[in-house]
Amino acid sequence: MSTDRPSDNIDYRATLNVARVHNALSREHPDRTAESKPVSLWVTLGAIAVTALGFTFYGAQRGTGSGDVLNYNKFGASYQPVTPEALVPETGGVQVNLAAIGEKVYKGKGCVACHQANGLGQAGLYPPLAGSEWVLGSTERLASLVGYGLMGPVTVKGQQYGAAIMPAHAPPILSPKEFAGVLSYIRQAWGNTASEISVESVSEFFARTKGRTAMYTEAELLAIPESTMLVGAAAPPADAAAPTTPPAP
Ligand code: HEC
Repeated sequence: MSTDRPSDNIDYRATLNVARVHNALSREHPDRTAESKPVSLWVTLGAIAVTALGFTFYGAQRGTGSGDVLNYNKFGASYQPVTPEALVPETGGVQVNLAAIGEKVYKGKGCVACHQANGLGQAGLYPPLAGSEWVLGSTERLASLVGYGLMGPVTVKGQQYGAAIMPAHAPPILSPKEFAGVLSYIRQAWGNTASEISVESVSEFFARTKGRTAMYTEAELLAIPESTMLVGAAAPPADAAAPTTPPAP
């Protein structure tokens, strides 16, 4: 291939002359745009109409279930949603939420004045109920100290208290229902997650301890085995379970 003697019959790749290259290109690749025609407007509109009709039929058959073709209720037409009330467990059917009753007692009948709304008490004087081992542990100990009062030194969450006394709350100061409520409340407020305390178990407790007037001391409470629970109250969570010792007669 030689570029010494160019002619009009060139292979355009073999020359650097721009005018010649363009001439060659327009000869070898004629422009045919002028010959083409757009698709008829009616064909385009027809295609759109057919597509739209297709989606309309598809939607009517399968879409939102308006035609009952798609039914998301797999339980069938007889299914009735369970109302929240029906889910509230064994509280005797009368009182719905003991902890809610207890919150009113806590805030309305004085606990709040000493132990505070946040359950943290007051440093050096009133011990905390949030995270307290006395609140979360043995319900027999808890009912004893809240029912008949507590005085003298007591250790709560590693801190010693004893400058003030814990007043008694046995009936008639609080009714068994209010008493069960307030214990349930302090066991479930402020991140505490212990079981509710039933009215029945509180009534049983006061029937059994009736006539007591002396306040408890820490030593006397500790003599009640940690695993002793009120009759009818739920057992402590498995990880908190201590070896079971029968209560002293
Ligand atoms: C007059 C203030 C006062 C009131 C009112 C009061 N407490 Fe106390 N409470 C104390 C004091 C003080 C102690 C610690 C007693 C001691 O040092 O021997 C205490 C101890 C406790 C304890 C055991 C220790 C602990 O922190 O877990 C519990 C549980 C408790 N109180 C619950 C209650 C509940 C429930 C109420 C309301 C029904 C209540 N208290 C009302 C002052 C009070």
